[in-house]
Amino acid sequence: MSLRIVFLGDIVGGPGCKAVSQLVPVIRQRWGPDLVIANAENAANGTGLTPDIYKKLCARGIDAITLGDHVYKKKQIVQTLQSESNIIRPANLSAGASGKRWMSVKPGPKDGQENPGGQEGPGGPGIQGVQGVYVLTVLGRIFMNMPANDPFATVDGLLDELPERDPIVIVEIHAEATSEKIAMGWHLNGRVTAVVGTHTHTPTADARILPAQVDGTGHPGIGPGGTAYISDLGMTGPHDSVLGRRADRVVSHMTTNMPFPFDVAEGNPRVQGVVIDIDTGSRRATAIEPIDLAADVTKPPFANG
Ligand SMILES: [Fe+2]
Ligand SMILES: [Fe+2]
Repeated sequence: MSLRIVFLGDIVGGPGCKAVSQLVPVIRQRWGPDLVIANAENAANGTGLTPDIYKKLCARGIDAITLGDHVYKKKQIVQTLQSESNIIRPANLSAGASGKRWMSVKPGPKDGQENPGGQEGPGGPGIQGVQGVYVLTVLGRIFMNMPANDPFATVDGLLDELPERDPIVIVEIHAEATSEKIAMGWHLNGRVTAVVGTHTHTPTADARILPAQVDGTGHPGIGPGGTAYISDLGMTGPHDSVLGRRADRVVSHMTTNMPFPFDVAEGNPRVQGVVIDIDTGSRRATAIEPIDLAADVTKPPFANG
């Protein structure tokens, strides 16, 4: 049997949330995913996530939510991180950081009308033989402002901690440096189902299923293959911008060194991410395909239509 997962890149501000409302139903209809996961670290006006926006995203068809270095920028999200089963913080933060380091999300019905929820959520009929899809995210350490523990050792430790042996695991590497993301892909190749990058808000053209080691050199770290990989999912938000912020403001700042408020932009809202097909028997990925859809701003919820 197969399982299909959609993972969307960082949702940015109101335009990103509206794009989710308009286009996740389209994604559900066109690709028929069993799960839709999204990074929502920029959903609250560009920085962080609030409980209200969390609820709206879940109601609009996002089954599970991850966060990155902006995890605690809206501190009220801490209660949501503690109480809800379908939202996680980066796993390699300080030991006392609030929130879960991994979640198990149950695949639900394909009609997109219900949120299957997390491991303790209402769930749907599920997919035969699949208890849950484990999702975890780690921060990179290169060119990142937020101090974090070794992401490679953190994932290795979590894989040993999970209650199932060799389950379906999706690992998000939220990092600035492409090299660190690619290294994570090879590090986990054949041991997890997918490794997807976020944080840079710009989709990369390197989506593929990582191959098995075939050169016979015996070099470690290449793995037995079968892990879907992309360096960055892109951004669910306004693309006539600098990473979601008003381009005029960012350009003014960068050309003068003067402070300018980096308000969230509005133009060209898009939904970007990938669709991943998984063989539930082997727990390995069989396909990964980018998604890049433009919202129609003449229609709801951008306009009254
Ligand atoms: Fe982001
Ligand atoms: Fe980030």
